[in-house]
Amino acid sequence: MVKIPDDDKGYDLNLFCVPKHYEEDLESVLIPHGLIMDRTECLARNIVEDMGGCPVVALCVLKGAYKFFADLLDYIKALNQNSDQSVPLTVDFITLKSYRNESTADVKVVGEEELSALTGKNVLIVEDIVETGRTMETLLSLLNKYNPKAVKVVSLLVKRTPRSCGYRPDYIGFEVPDKFLVGYALDYNEHFRDLNHVCILNENGKEKYKK
Ligand code: IMP
Ligand code: MG
Repeated sequence: MVKIPDDDKGYDLNLFCVPKHYEEDLESVLIPHGLIMDRTECLARNIVEDMGGCPVVALCVLKGAYKFFADLLDYIKALNQNSDQSVPLTVDFITLKSYRNESTADVKVVGEEELSALTGKNVLIVEDIVETGRTMETLLSLLNKYNPKAVKVVSLLVKRTPRSCGYRPDYIGFEVPDKFLVGYALDYNEHFRDLNHVCILNENGKEKYKK
């Protein structure tokens, strides 16, 4: 896991290309897109090594994980094409809603019935960010009712926060400071998904896009 320390203020916005409409709303670029991609490539390799050629259902937690999911699967597919071992992949999607201005204990699952398709399968849950860990714990206990064969979780980001319930995913891209992050499909009230880098949201942005 790549640990980004609390005193890492990120990169100045004008060192990278950021959409004009977000320039006033961001503190800095914390993780540039290229670094996300390089780390994701490595996670794909770790996952393929561990799966030992068993078929896997990759379960994307929408909407926040869609970019990470797509890029991670591209790297896994590239490995499948170029190594002796390959992991047969299928995909599935679930929508969880737990966020409204700040993390709440209230986690809603849209389309729970779909989970019955995962009975007896090796499931890889793909998530964007773990903060308190409650969303993932809720999803895991829900999924267990449908008796999957095995479940692993990969999260691009894990936040270092005193609010954590102690849950840790099996694979982690980056451990990040306790700041509100947007971009690379992570949103603040549906905004900022159209930003390539993971950035720190500033007070202006929080105010502007408040619900
Ligand atoms: P948890 O249940 O507290 O672990 O929250 C996890 C969910 O909250 C994630 O799936 C995200 O949707 C959302 N979330 C937590 N922190 C952030 C953040 O910094 N930016 C954007 N979304 C976040
Ligand atoms: Mg999420």
